[in-house]
Amino acid sequence: RSIVILISGRGSNMEAIVRAAHTERWPAKVVAVISNRADAGGLSFAIACDIPTVVISNKDFRDRGQFDAALQLEIDRFSPDVVVLAGFMRILTAPFVQHYAGRMLNIHPSLLPSFVGLETHLQALTMGVKVHGATVHFVTADLDHGPIIAQEFVTVLDDDTVESLKNRVLAIEHQMYPRAVRWFVEGRLKIKDGRVYKSDFV
Ligand code: GRF
Repeated sequence: RSIVILISGRGSNMEAIVRAAHTERWPAKVVAVISNRADAGGLSFAIACDIPTVVISNKDFRDRGQFDAALQLEIDRFSPDVVVLAGFMRILTAPFVQHYAGRMLNIHPSLLPSFVGLETHLQALTMGVKVHGATVHFVTADLDHGPIIAQEFVTVLDDDTVESLKNRVLAIEHQMYPRAVRWFVEGRLKIKDGRVYKSDFV
């Protein structure tokens, strides 16, 4: 099975997935890392791992639809079983999302449905919630709202800043995202009526 990962920046979640796939000997491998930004830090890690990389800049396209169509062509050249969004900072159009329905995953740094969109850690501190965390979900056309695969929480501390909270959440992301992608490539996830069920064995 093959995995294509989309990034826009640092790519630390991508790195965690690449490492886990290798060290845990998944029945799948990361066949490409695609970025919409040439300066994405994560690209150098992928290159160092001999993973093919593609840069496709949204700025070269007239609108979202054109960009998504071109992105889809690039992704499909690798015939992935699953498309993994890992800090891919683009809102995707409905036809693109539909094309990968049931086989595109995202990680969002909050306990959805709380705090969709950007600045999730600031939102959490502003609301004064006492638990915060991250969610891995299937991508649907509704931003940050697809069927939830996994959630992990951290306790918000009295002296937390956006930075300290973000770091603790990121640490759990690096554990949970590889685990969730692994469940997918092992064929253990089923979606029924908007809920995700995980079987214990294949
Ligand atoms: C992560 O916090 C992820 O949840 C969010 O964007 C950040 C990406 O970080 N979607 P990285 O590029 O994986 O290091």
